[in-house]
Amino acid sequence: MKINFSAPTKNKNGVTALAVTEAEAEVSSKSAAKTEPVLSPIVAEWDKESGGIIVRALAHHRFKGKMGDELEVILPTSKGGDSASSLMIFGMGKVASLTRAKVGEIGANIAARGLGGNSSAIEIDLDSVAASLESGKEKPGLSLAEIAAELALGAALRSYRFDKYRTKIKPEEQPNLTSITITSSDAAVVKSAKAAWAERESLVEAIEFTKDLVSEPPNVLNPISYCAALERLKIAGLSVEILDDKQLAKLGMGALLGVGLGSPHRARIAILEWNGGAKKSKPIALVGKGVTFDSGGLSLKPAKSMEDMKWDMAGSAAVVGAMIAVAKRRARANVVGVVGLVENMPDGAAQRPGDIVKAYDGQTIEVLNTDAEGRLVLADVLSYTEKRFSPSIMVDLATLTGAIITALGHENAGLFANDEKLAAAISAAGAEEGETVWQFPMSDAYDKMINSTIADMKNIGDGTSGSIVGAQFLKRFVKDTAWAHLDIAGMAWSDKAKGTSPKGATGWGVRLLDRLVRSYE
Ligand code: BES
Ligand code: MN
Ligand code: ZN
Repeated sequence: MKINFSAPTKNKNGVTALAVTEAEAEVSSKSAAKTEPVLSPIVAEWDKESGGIIVRALAHHRFKGKMGDELEVILPTSKGGDSASSLMIFGMGKVASLTRAKVGEIGANIAARGLGGNSSAIEIDLDSVAASLESGKEKPGLSLAEIAAELALGAALRSYRFDKYRTKIKPEEQPNLTSITITSSDAAVVKSAKAAWAERESLVEAIEFTKDLVSEPPNVLNPISYCAALERLKIAGLSVEILDDKQLAKLGMGALLGVGLGSPHRARIAILEWNGGAKKSKPIALVGKGVTFDSGGLSLKPAKSMEDMKWDMAGSAAVVGAMIAVAKRRARANVVGVVGLVENMPDGAAQRPGDIVKAYDGQTIEVLNTDAEGRLVLADVLSYTEKRFSPSIMVDLATLTGAIITALGHENAGLFANDEKLAAAISAAGAEEGETVWQFPMSDAYDKMINSTIADMKNIGDGTSGSIVGAQFLKRFVKDTAWAHLDIAGMAWSDKAKGTSPKGATGWGVRLLDRLVRSYE
């Protein structure tokens, strides 16, 4: 999707979208008529030209500008073609409750409507937004330029498609929309909106890269081809280093390597580095679970649960996306992304329930269930990352447990941390970007549940508090770094379009991580 910023054009046969806020109905001094959305001068002109069709449609549909309100008016084009042929009006809700995430969602809704129509271009009339904001007494928490950039971001993200493997797309399923232009009649606003967009634009490519990786089928994406895709990543200043299975064996990563024993594609670690900060400042470390397919191993999953398991690498893909985002926007921070890539398969050579493996940091693990593999991967990646990079903070993302879906559904990721300041920073970053998290408790009582009678620990508990037990296991591999774990099993994939994401891979975590890095810049 092409995103442009310019002065409004006549947009003769195109679609113009407006976003308007919900007027404050309770303002006593104002008349009832004031609760109607405020239209910008150009739209008011179109309304007049078309005999009041817009105002009548608004009244007829009792359109008040509530978040989620949508209305499309087809205008008569007989009046010299000065009117936009179609006008889409979107509610933004109350001014005081406008957030980046909400504005992005409106941008996404505009794109979704546009993608379903015949027009190749949409203009989003920022003057309407401005007029609407000025009419109320509340001040928004975002500048007009930021609102423009968030509208653009949401619209661009919602336009994502993964058509690589579809050979027969019906013409009526193929969207016509190719460009979205945010317009303002104020040249200074256009300029500042462009600048705000430059700050956000890197997220689009980053999130699309993440979604592509997550969408790829597991016969195409395995630890080896994943590394090849990363090595093809040519972004100035972003370095890529691969550790192959021989190097991992030499380093003593028995936990990670054990998971890959049943697969012909052996485990890899990929390290992405961005050094945009001060020379001596410790990096922020982002760690990801990259199980390219999780059959469960010899503790085989039932068929239905296995269908989803190509996206068991979504944590790693979010880390890769975040690295792309920070590198593309040339963040003034040092950030390292470390992902553990492995395929969990059953085979004569696969690890068995009952095996004891030795992790990179020397601790021994009794593997009682080969399907609790994500924690084995992360154990080695976390302790290696901590030892090699001495990061200021370390955050891991993983589709770690089905239990997190039972607890939180598809609305929040689970947050676990050994440091409350870091947990608060992550919660705030997530709230701002619309990738919300919910923190779970951790304690010695839960930690005890993974004590083994024959090794230092076992990889499963008693089946209760499954997500916390997984997090407690990871915690044993972090020495003294502020660390947080995000269990994103419920967030990586969506069966329906939601917010800024079409159905399928969501790219969840890229925005949160990029915002988190910003908060330390
Ligand atoms: N990759 C799964 C977790 C998962 C399940 C993600 C469903 C997305 C949807 C993970 O490796 C796993 O299998 N976890 C087990 C842990 C159990 C054996 C302790 C689980 O959740 O059942
Ligand atoms: Mn598993
Ligand atoms: Zn898994």
